[in-house]
Amino acid sequence: PKSQINKALDAMGEKLVEQMAIARVRREYEKLNVDLEKLQMSYIVHYGGLMILLTLGSMLCIILVGFLAARTSAGAAKQLRNDVYAKVINFTNAEFDNFSTASLITRTTNDITQLQAVTFMSMRMLLFAPIMGGGGVLRALDKAPSMAWIIGLAVLVLIGVISIIFIVALPKFQLMQKLIDRLNLVARENLSGLMVVRAFNREPFEEQRFDKANTDLTKVSLFVNRVMVFLMPFMMILMNILSISIIWIGAHNVANATMQVGDMMAFMQYAIQIVFSFIMLSMMFIFLPRAAISGKRIAEVLDVKETIKDPDTPVHYAPQGNQRGTIEFRNVSFRYPKADTDVLCNISFTAPHGKTIGIIGPTGAGKSTLMNLIPRFYDVTSGAILIDGIDIRDMSQKELRSLIGYVPQRSLLFSGTAEYNLRIANEHASDERIEESLKTAQADFIFESPEKLLTPVSQGGMNFSGGQKQRLAIARALVKDCPIYLFDDSFSALDYKTDAKLRRALKERTGTSTCIIVAQRVATIMHADLIIVLDEGRIVGQGTHK
Ligand SMILES: Nc1ncnc2c1ncn2[C@@H]1O[C@H](COP(=O)(O)OP(=O)(O)OP(=O)(O)O)[C@@H](O)[C@H]1O
Ligand SMILES: [Mg+2]
Repeated sequence: PKSQINKALDAMGEKLVEQMAIARVRREYEKLNVDLEKLQMSYIVHYGGLMILLTLGSMLCIILVGFLAARTSAGAAKQLRNDVYAKVINFTNAEFDNFSTASLITRTTNDITQLQAVTFMSMRMLLFAPIMGGGGVLRALDKAPSMAWIIGLAVLVLIGVISIIFIVALPKFQLMQKLIDRLNLVARENLSGLMVVRAFNREPFEEQRFDKANTDLTKVSLFVNRVMVFLMPFMMILMNILSISIIWIGAHNVANATMQVGDMMAFMQYAIQIVFSFIMLSMMFIFLPRAAISGKRIAEVLDVKETIKDPDTPVHYAPQGNQRGTIEFRNVSFRYPKADTDVLCNISFTAPHGKTIGIIGPTGAGKSTLMNLIPRFYDVTSGAILIDGIDIRDMSQKELRSLIGYVPQRSLLFSGTAEYNLRIANEHASDERIEESLKTAQADFIFESPEKLLTPVSQGGMNFSGGQKQRLAIARALVKDCPIYLFDDSFSALDYKTDAKLRRALKERTGTSTCIIVAQRVATIMHADLIIVLDEGRIVGQGTHK
């Protein structure tokens, strides 16, 4: 009877009815003499082809995204490195004190690399994962809503474990960047002070110091890596448990005829896709905080406010006639940032144009400090410095420094050639000018070497003696044609005869320029037009030698 058939049909479940219907339709087709094999084949070929095309398409897209992401992140990192470097170059000494050189180097290299890696990863994953996961959820719900809770559970477990890792590993990342700073600091200090380390037999101790910094870093990285290593097997186990549960529960459903095998398999695929996209996202969330820390460290450098700035409307330096280079100190006092006493107190004097001023005084009197105020390496704390009547703070720094030829107390040379070092003062100087400057500075020894001007200079000028370095530094300042020359104890490493010869040549050469010469020996400044005696930051006497 019909009611019995209906009852049986209800018990069979929808899918099975469908199956029976298919079998029936099949028979009908056979009756009509349709080649079912062929029909099925063409179906498979059609959809199979479509799938292959889609896969190829998505593969192409992934490659393209990878390519673009690599370009973008590398480009961004380059830009960032340039920005940080440009910023650091403009740091005054006061700002340098806030960071160690080692830390600045880590920030420009390692920290930016971290950012680059994360930019690269996030461009590839941050959008891709939600699309994949979201699509998976929609399709899975469509196939077998009754089993959706399995995926939900898996995702919850995943989020739980990732949060734990997050909490454990995050503080360590911060520590790691600090330890890299420390390692760089120790390595730099030891390498540049190698001779001192050797002379005092400190190698074992310094090795220990390095070893400690190294071990600390290794320990933290090992810890972080172990935590990370734990993540992968955990994900694999989770995936496998997920598959097994789906098969377990799905098999019951299939046995009860409420689900088809094909649907179950599809559901499993989707489930794996969903969990996988969560894994990708979680990776991002582990690396993002690390990059955030690096980002903060970079921002700290970029956010530094410069203390020495150009005025909004700089006064143009245009003195009347040829009388250029008068320097006037008006009641200048100066105190180093963070120090609590003045290094210079009430300094007032005038260096008339074309004259030579000698400054002499015991070590620590503030001579170098006074010199550094003129090119504005530091700004005066009170009072003012004027060049030909213009307050140097009203000029642009570029213009101010173009007026000054400066020879620092520690002769700094750069790696390259002798010519490269000389042309730092003026790229377009003529060859005669370079030769003449070398001669004036008594640095003719350059011409005695086989390579002449192309004599190589190693890092910091280490392949020259102290006196040779000093003379090269003097020659470098002389290559520049300017109304003011500052010599900070630049003759200290010269023997008496060379010193005297150099001073005579210098006098001729710098005829119309103002020279300020800091010296330890009275002989060096004996012929100066004005001698200033400095002690503990105060002028205790001025006059001429006679
Ligand atoms: N960057 C700095 N920060 C803080 N204090 C400093 C700094 N440079 C120098 N000083 C202090 O300023 C004082 C003067 O130093 P300065 O270098 O001007 O002496 P100097 O007269 O050039 O000595 P020397 O003849 O040995 O070269 C010193 O007591 C020193 O401790
Ligand atoms: Mg000094």
